[in-house]
Amino acid sequence: MPKIIINGKEIEFEKGMTVLQACELADVEIPRFCYHEKLSIAGNCRMCLVEMERSPKPIASCAMPAAEGMNIKTNTEFVKKARKGVMEFLLANHPLDCPVCDQGGECDLQDQSLFYGFDKSRFSENKRAVEDKYMGPLIKTQMTRCIHCTRCIRFAEEVAGVPEIGAIGRGENMQITTYLEQSMTSELSANVIDLCPVGALTSKPYAFEARPWELKKTESIDVMDAIGSNIRVDTYGWEVKRILPRLNNEINEEWISDKTRYACDGLLKQRLDVPYVKKNGKLEKSDWDEAVEIISQKIKSLSPSEIGGHVGDMASMETIYAFKILLEKIGSKNYDFREKKFYINPQDKVNYLFNSSINGIEESDLLILIGCNPRHEGTILNARIRKSFVKNKTKIYSIGNPGDLTYDYTLLGDDLNEIKNIFEDKSVGNGLLNTPPRQQPPRLTTGPHRCACGGAARYRPTESFAPRPTAPFHGRLLGSRQACG
Ligand code: SF4
Ligand code: FES
Repeated sequence: MPKIIINGKEIEFEKGMTVLQACELADVEIPRFCYHEKLSIAGNCRMCLVEMERSPKPIASCAMPAAEGMNIKTNTEFVKKARKGVMEFLLANHPLDCPVCDQGGECDLQDQSLFYGFDKSRFSENKRAVEDKYMGPLIKTQMTRCIHCTRCIRFAEEVAGVPEIGAIGRGENMQITTYLEQSMTSELSANVIDLCPVGALTSKPYAFEARPWELKKTESIDVMDAIGSNIRVDTYGWEVKRILPRLNNEINEEWISDKTRYACDGLLKQRLDVPYVKKNGKLEKSDWDEAVEIISQKIKSLSPSEIGGHVGDMASMETIYAFKILLEKIGSKNYDFREKKFYINPQDKVNYLFNSSINGIEESDLLILIGCNPRHEGTILNARIRKSFVKNKTKIYSIGNPGDLTYDYTLLGDDLNEIKNIFEDKSVGNGLLNTPPRQQPPRLTTGPHRCACGGAARYRPTESFAPRPTAPFHGRLLGSRQACG
């Protein structure tokens, strides 16, 4: 492995790494604003400057490929002066309104100006003012605070696959905005809030709700879809104030869907927390004593066989169990629990197990979607498929038309027979499964939506139609919490 010298210490690094990544291997912290591990390198904030032997100027470590024999210094007066200069420029136009900024306490600019900045400014000119932009109901903007790191632009373009954010104007007049100031349409849009290193993009529903140090942070797992994204639940007293992603490279990386992030809204707002009783054709506010008394009278006036119960698929196990006990106490056995029209045999794990794993998608060279829309049913999975498509040019086919998935795919049709055709090598993608140079097993992803033909999700193509292809299948049912194995 090649070697590099960082602050006098020789370390080995992998080919393709940048100087900044090599510094991290040496446990040397490099301040940064625009650099982000999951995004392409922009090199435009210049906060990561370091000294390189034989270079008259400091270099941007995030954009400089590490090379054998490089001698890097990160703690010299030269570097400190360079970073102070950059920070002074960044703060020249920044409003410094930390006391009223929602990012206060978790702001990269605040933290880094404390450690790497200058304690006074030599600028006496007026600060630049930028009008706030409309980016939709989730993202609050205060664009005067923007430092033009372009993380939000790169995220929208590279990860979300919806190039809706961009920059207009140049130099000091540069402004970040959505196209024609329209709302972002991506289901991953609110991740730009976490990515923005300053308070330019903050969460609209969370505006002025709490300070980060007032919140109790609890690590948890998201249950809004079958992905199981790693999340952190921030609570203030008994109220869930916000949901943030936790890093898990095998599942959600650093992203969560907007549904995951804002579903906590429903815990507090527009809840039916007071019973209503219909009197003279009109609903009137009541109290629990009266409501329970009315229900009890109604139950007593009916025979148990006339009483039935039905539970939806969003109720918790505890609630369902308590409901069952109640009905049994009344003497009724008329209870039912029905999910959406699923035709899955849970006895056989192959029907629901995603044995290829989510990050395994990146190693796949063929993906077949059957009757599913991963963009809406498993947003994070869709982001992973897009990543694989962009990085490896993975071939993607779909039976059933899911619409825009943010990447190109070939529509095989809307007919169950297409599965048969695939195995008999008659489909549009002739020889889809076994044609060389496929190196990896194909990924088969089915969903709860039936094809027009009547239910691809219940299909077990490997056994019903044809002998197994040379490589084994990997498949999973999308969109079902309960079916996730
Ligand atoms: S809005 Fe935030 S993330 Fe976007 S360029 Fe400005 S500072 Fe960077
Ligand atoms: S982090 Fe290197 S230039 Fe911004």
